[in-house]
Parts: sequence; structure tokens; C-alpha cells
Amino acid sequence: MSKNFYHYPVWVRLWHFSNAVLCLFLIVTGFSMLYSDPDNALVVKFQRAVAIHNVCGVLLTISYTAFLFGNLFTPNGKNYLIRLKGLGDRLWKQGYYYAYGYFKGEEAPFPVTSDRKFNPLQQVSYVGVMYFAIPMLFVTGWALMFPEFILKKFLGLSGIFLTDQFHVILGFLVVIFLFIHIYVSTMGKSPLSNFRSIITGWQESH
Ligand code: HEM
Repeated sequence: MSKNFYHYPVWVRLWHFSNAVLCLFLIVTGFSMLYSDPDNALVVKFQRAVAIHNVCGVLLTISYTAFLFGNLFTPNGKNYLIRLKGLGDRLWKQGYYYAYGYFKGEEAPFPVTSDRKFNPLQQVSYVGVMYFAIPMLFVTGWALMFPEFILKKFLGLSGIFLTDQFHVILGFLVVIFLFIHIYVSTMGKSPLSNFRSIITGWQESH
């Protein structure tokens, strides 16, 4: 019998919505700057892309701060605490399910319950993206907005160049995360159930 759980409080849904929209704008304008071409109608014009990217970067920092405080001061934060004991085994089980078991109609190894919102792969990827990639992205982004604070040289290479490369690599990692995140989100109770949950707050268990 399936049971519904209220998993996504309003603040998480508002944060997630702003985060998703801002990330999409940042990705489109980031690509437009990287592959800037005045004759290509598919990319945003360079000056406009820079302006939109900077504004969205600042807004993302603000929305991230709200997420961080939300996770520090509400029970949502406990979903991000990874239990290391047996982690490899749990990741393997979930990976096997996503790659094989799901398509054979097997039961999910870590179904959603009132105490477990994320399966092990979701948990590790969300921790990686929210506690490493996004903060590093906006720290390097702010540094690139104020390059006078960046070290002139590091290991013989330009500090601005290294910061920029790191920023771009992290940006690509977030793009890869996003593709996988959206694909895996279709593997819930039904293809749309997880998308409904992040809008309504209610999650159906498997
Ligand atoms: C159009 C873009 C996006 C869509 C359609 C989308 C979809 C979803 C869905 C359906 C869920 C609920 C299922 C689950 O918990 O896994 C979710 C949760 C989540 N998403 Fe996304 N997402 C998008 C963008 C992003 C981005 C850009 C990030 C981070 C960089 C992100 C990070 C997260 C996190 C951390 C959660 C769990 C939130 C919590 O309950 O604490 N999402 N997303």
C-alpha cells in the first residue's frame, strides 16, 4: 500500500525553484560567454550574458544562504548527513537498481519513508553539489567579479586563469548533475511523481 509523506516544506520548494531557475540562466549565459559569437543567434550577446550572469550569481548566493540556514536550523538538514558505515554497499545497491533492477520491475532498495527522504545516491550527489560545487562556484564567481583579490600567480600560472578554469569545470559538473538529476527524478513511483512532489510537497512512497 502506498503512503504519502510531506517531504518538501514550503521553504525547500521556494529555494529549489529559485535555485533551478537561476542555475538555468547561469548555464545559458555561461555557455554564451564561453562560446561567444556575435553571428550566432543561439547564444546571448556577450555584454548582456555577462550582466545576466553576474546578477544571477549574486541572487544564487542569496538563495544558497537561505538553503544553508534552512538546513542548519530545520530538520531538513538531517537528510544531508551521510552515514559512512556501509556507504559503498548502499551506493552499489542503489546504482544496480537504477541501472538494472528498476527496468526489471524490482522493488527500490531504499524506498522513501517518513525518515528517509533520499536514497544513498541522491544523498551523496546532493551533498556534493550543495556543499561543494555550488559554494565553490559562487566563491570563484565572486572572485572573478573582483579579480583584484585573486593571487597574481599560483604555481607559475595566472591566478585569474586558474580560478576561471576551476569555475568553468564546476559549471560543467553542475550541468552533468542536472541531466542525471532530472533523468533520475523520473524514476519515482511514476515518471512524474517526483516532479509533483517538489511542487506540492507531498511524496508518494514506492
Ligand atoms: C529544471 C531543473 C530542475 C528540476 C526539474 C529538478 C527536479 C527535482 C525534483 C523532481 C526533486 C524531488 C525529487 C528528489 O528529492 O530527488 C528535486 C529535489 C532536489 N533538487 Fe532539483 N531539479 C532541478 C534543478 C536543480 C538544481 C540546479 C539543483 C542544484 C544545483 C537541484 C538540487 C536539488 C536538491 C538538493 C533536491 C533535494 C531538496 C531537499 O529536499 O532538500 N535541483 N529536484
